[in-house]
Parts: sequence; C-alpha cells; structure tokens
Amino acid sequence: MNTKENIKAWSENAKTFGAEFFKNYKNEGDFWHKELLNQNILDGLGDIKGKKILDAGCGEGYFSRILAGKGSIVTGLEPSDMINSAIEYEKINELGIEYIKEDLCNFDHRKNYYDAFVAINVFMDIPDFEIALKACIESLKNNGILVFSILHPCFTPVRFNKSTNEYTKETDYDGKGLIEIEEYFKEVHVIQTNDVYNHRTLSTYLNKLISFSMTIEKIIEPQLDLEFEKEKPNKDCHIPTFIIIKAKKLLK
Ligand SMILES: C[S@@+](CC[C@H](N)C(=O)[O-])C[C@H]1O[C@@H](n2cnc3c(N)ncnc32)[C@H](O)[C@@H]1O
Repeated sequence: MNTKENIKAWSENAKTFGAEFFKNYKNEGDFWHKELLNQNILDGLGDIKGKKILDAGCGEGYFSRILAGKGSIVTGLEPSDMINSAIEYEKINELGIEYIKEDLCNFDHRKNYYDAFVAINVFMDIPDFEIALKACIESLKNNGILVFSILHPCFTPVRFNKSTNEYTKETDYDGKGLIEIEEYFKEVHVIQTNDVYNHRTLSTYLNKLISFSMTIEKIIEPQLDLEFEKEKPNKDCHIPTFIIIKAKKLLK
C-alpha cells in the first residue's frame, strides 16, 4: 500500500469506527492515550501557552482539543475523513483550532512557522515516512520541538500468516504473560482494520532524525501503573507498547 492508498484506508476506518466509537474518545482519546501517552507528550512539549503547534495526523482531533484547551494556537492536520469528526466538534465547541485536510508528505507551505510539532502514532502509518518527517522538520522554527510516539518496534510482535501472505500484529499477551519476537529487522507492512502500518526498526527512526540534524533530547518508554494488573496480566506494566521521542531543531 502506498501513502495515498493508506489515507483512503483511513477514510474507510472513519466509517468503520463511526460516531459511536468516538463518543468515548472525546476528551482524552482511548485508554492508551489517557494512561500512557497524553501526559508524557505534554511533558515533552513543556510550556505551550501561546505556542503555535501542529498536531499531525490528528485523527478525530482529541489531542488538538487538549492543546487548544491549554492555550496553544493549534493546527490539526489530517488527510483522511477522520477529520470530519474533528470539524464537527469544533463547530459545536469552538476552540479556535484550524483544521487542514492534507497529507503530511505534501505539507510544504509553512516553513519555519511552528514552535512545536506533535505526531501521535502517525509516522508508522506513513509509507513515505522520510518525506513526511522532512516536511514536519522544515515547518518548525529554529529551536522548535518535535514530539512523536510510535508503536515500540522492538516490542510489537508481527507474525507472517502463510495462508493470507500477510503480516499482522500479535496481541495475545494476556494469555501468555510474555511476547515472542519472531523477526525484527525486516521492514514490513502490517495489516490492520482497513489500513496498514509500517514496521521499521528503531534505528531507522532515530538515524533519520539525526540525518535531518535533529537533536534527540528525550526518549520515554511509558509504563502502566501496576494498579492495572490486579485482575489479569497487563503487557504495559512490563513491556512498553509505545516509545515517545522528543527532538529539537537546532540550526548551527
Ligand atoms: C493511529 S491514527 C492516530 C490518530 C491520532 N493522532 C490519535 O492518536 O488519535 C494514525 C493517523 O495518521 C493519519 N495519517 C495516515 N497517513 C497520513 C499522512 N500521509 N499524513 C498525515 N496523517 C496521516 C491517519 O489518517 C490517522 O488519522
């Protein structure tokens, strides 16, 4: 699947998930956003009041709303029909968020503009990730900050299904209390509901940032509070599902 086809697949997801799904999503995203991602990403961004921030691949826009609620000047960029829910929320409860329906790979018209750039679980969804990352860095001012999360590639097992000839994500931790990694080095497309995500090695992400002269300032592997393991084993108490990377644009 190329970048365009994957965006189409995300528009299909918008239909599949539907308004009912997003009802629970409104203020904080899903369980993983709420417990593992949101606060860590906000901490990475630091003081955001009055700052221009781009929330790339904003989906239905819950994090754009969090940022706007904290006084940031927010642009939510989303190429798929997921953006329709975001625009609906903005009509009902106006927070002054600007929404742009666009592929991040084509976002080349606001250079040196943003103080910060956020991408929550987005770069792994973009086949042309290098083009998207370059566009995002170019849109940052000098000293601008990029904070992004991805599925932790070291600890997200993917399995090859011989009968379908496809890779899928292995999610059965509860049954085993451990994960089994079959293959890490191979960069593959992993089939999800309608879309695919791209499994890449961690060094692919980090080296690409370094090659674009970004300074890596912090890496967070969010851990779930042990409270959540009272009833059954929970992977996130022991093995991170996500990795969050904070990097700064420091031009010499
Ligand atoms: C896993 S969802 C995350 C959505 C949102 N950031 C969140 O955490 O709720 C990935 C998002 O990336 C978007 N996406 C896919 N390809 C993209 C591209 N080329 N440019 C920008 N966003 C893209 C998808 O449409 C989808 O909304």
